[in-house]
Amino acid sequence: MISAHKVCRERLGWRINRMAEFGASADGGVNRQVFSDADRAARAELNSWATQMGLELYTDPIANQFFRLMPKGVAADMAPVLTGSHLDSQPTGGPYDGVYGVVAAFEAVQALIDCGAVLKRPIEIVAWSNEEGSRFAPGCMGSMCFTGARAIEEFADTCDADRLRLGDELSKTLLSHPAMQQRDFGQSLSSYIELHIEQGPILERLGKPIGVVSGIQGCRWFNVTINGEARHAGTTPMAQRRDALRAAVGYLSDLQIALQDPDDATRFTIGRLDVSPNTPNTVPQQVSFSIDLRHPDTEELNSLTERIHTVLSQQQQGCDAVCEEIFKHAAVRFHEWVIAAIQTCAKGLDLAYEPMVSGAFHDALFLADYCPTAMIFVPSQGGVSHHPSEFTHLTDLYDGARLLAATLEHTATSTVEIQASKRTENSTK
Ligand code: GLV
Ligand code: MN
Ligand code: MN
Repeated sequence: MISAHKVCRERLGWRINRMAEFGASADGGVNRQVFSDADRAARAELNSWATQMGLELYTDPIANQFFRLMPKGVAADMAPVLTGSHLDSQPTGGPYDGVYGVVAAFEAVQALIDCGAVLKRPIEIVAWSNEEGSRFAPGCMGSMCFTGARAIEEFADTCDADRLRLGDELSKTLLSHPAMQQRDFGQSLSSYIELHIEQGPILERLGKPIGVVSGIQGCRWFNVTINGEARHAGTTPMAQRRDALRAAVGYLSDLQIALQDPDDATRFTIGRLDVSPNTPNTVPQQVSFSIDLRHPDTEELNSLTERIHTVLSQQQQGCDAVCEEIFKHAAVRFHEWVIAAIQTCAKGLDLAYEPMVSGAFHDALFLADYCPTAMIFVPSQGGVSHHPSEFTHLTDLYDGARLLAATLEHTATSTVEIQASKRTENSTK
């Protein structure tokens, strides 16, 4: 665990602030959408850090970035330990969600270099493309393509709100970093460890600096479209309308009722609502909205989905609803061996930890089907995330980075080959 002592608190703080400049918003937050100019600039900054550190730079067809520390005397085909997270943010994002896991990975790898740790495996840092899914839905595209859960061709024609194609924006990004070596999806990995802010209130409430994450709750995303008829707002009698927005109000209200949960374990969010033609004096012709549904129990998640379909199968205001599922993953349980490695290192560093399940999804959701995986959380002030006021104290960021360095050292000095745990249901849309 010698590497943990080499993690530099000041440089970690500097790296966080530096990355927050890319896509900085006037309110102190970050809006760094995937494959945007700000994202490309942030990627270039990582490339320059990695080059200075003597790491190997790789990318793949969806522009995931990989930075490899290749220890002397280790066979080039030895499966690496992978660590990292994502650079893209929500439109109302803060300076920590995702980027902290990438920045701390650089700090941890620098510490491993500085302490001269004798590693038996390569270590790679990853910055996954499009974890948030806010510009191009769904999220976790980079990790889904890497692990084979989805094919990149399925996403090429996905458009953002300005009708720009993902395929075109991705090409621009790939062309902007010609110095990176291209490689395919699906590289072998010995394990994956993702460090992230908690984004919830538990660690702060318990006064503990570390969460050892044992799994992630299940999640399903749907796009719902309601088709009505555009008519003149001043002349069309109320009884003769098929108003898609009035229908949507009915559906939304019925969905809220159908998904009520006295245990407060269900998470149900309608975060996007589009009205067309969206003009005051025309009866709305079409409304579409998103549904984000989550539950820690996969069976319950499936039964909630049935309730959604039941509500949407009824007509409202003479309009039908079409429901398309665009993302699906069952609840996942991380790998005991990686969880135990994190716990051992936390004890060795005298860091109190809490076992917990993640309410947010992360790229680790898909990596867990692919190689032994687990996550580390650090506290979020007030439990706030996806908001400019998202904040984690530097002391907590530093503790997380120290624990990551120790865990990387622990796992990369082991040559044990562990199989990924298989879940019963692992389907994705
Ligand atoms: C990730 O950003 C999530 O929505 O959980
Ligand atoms: Mn994140
Ligand atoms: Mn997020």
